[in-house]
Amino acid sequence: MKMKILAIETSCDETGCAIVENGKKVLGESLASSLALHKETGGIIPERAAREQVKFIIPVIKEALNQASLKISQVDALAVTVGPGLIGSLLVGIETAKTLAYIFSKPLIPVNHIIAHIYANWLNNDKILLPAICLVVSGGHTQLIFFKNHGDYYLIGETRDDAAGEAFDKTARILGLPYPGGPAIEKEAEKFLKKSSQKLNLFPRPLKGRGGFDFSFSGLKTAVINYIKKQKKIDKEFLAAQIQEAIVDSLVERTFNALKKFPAKTFLLAGGVAANKRLREKLYKKITEEKIKTKIIYPEIKHCTDNACFVGSFAFFNFKTVKIENIRANPNLTLVKRLV
Ligand code: KG4
Ligand code: ZN
Repeated sequence: MKMKILAIETSCDETGCAIVENGKKVLGESLASSLALHKETGGIIPERAAREQVKFIIPVIKEALNQASLKISQVDALAVTVGPGLIGSLLVGIETAKTLAYIFSKPLIPVNHIIAHIYANWLNNDKILLPAICLVVSGGHTQLIFFKNHGDYYLIGETRDDAAGEAFDKTARILGLPYPGGPAIEKEAEKFLKKSSQKLNLFPRPLKGRGGFDFSFSGLKTAVINYIKKQKKIDKEFLAAQIQEAIVDSLVERTFNALKKFPAKTFLLAGGVAANKRLREKLYKKITEEKIKTKIIYPEIKHCTDNACFVGSFAFFNFKTVKIENIRANPNLTLVKRLV
């Protein structure tokens, strides 16, 4: 039997709806974003993001259904992100999903946004073997997860301060680059990497060589500010390349530690920062050079940042319906089980 799930994602500044069949095939997808508004302020103002969610939610649902040539009555279930995220934004998706589930008598599956990011890897891919080690790198989270099976996830390590995406966003702001900082830094860094083979070790790699699986990125901001203070003129391309390398190297080193300690059949990358090409290249190089026998899988670039397709995939593989009245937003939803 083919199961079609209508999924809704509104945890931050993206409003997404998708119809996903059997967790893998996207029949329709629509995404609106209030990113342009946040470019004006250099970061997200939660109240503004929530108001934009209200504007976009019905149009994106209509568009996804149109693309799939389906009516809500024809889908088998609904799914919605319940956390972590911004409370105002989450509530828009959750209340819409609850109302639709009630009116159309459909099961509703609550979705954890962090774990859902990992499911971007299952879209159009049916060759994923478990267990897997996952590196989830987004604007709010940086976590290494041991993915034993669907519904059975363990935290191996996480950031002690800023998330990797946050480090990109904050340092980009210092350089006068637009929000979101990750793609902006990547673009500048690419220009530098094309013309120079200079060593990229200007900024420190915190926790390097100490073993372990945790991350720390808050010192990078200070290091960038201190460096800039001493310069008469700054070279944005050079600094972007240095910043990107410092973040990427830390991610690669800690991931490698995890792959050595917890042998897994597959390595899965996920989250907005997973779109970064330098990260993809350096992870691939390290894992293959060190002869770690782990299959490396990366999600499609367009499904790395927030969208509803991965929410629909998560819901299929974790199909546990919860009574509508018991579904609530949980801005601080976390993984409870820590492995080490
Ligand atoms: O997963 P996501 O869309 O939202 C959260 O759940 O947080 O991640 C957004 C983050 C932002 O910090 C953004 O700067 C970063 O992902 N990002 C990137 C790239 N594209 C998005 N970071 C580095 N390189 C990229 N190409
Ligand atoms: Zn996200």
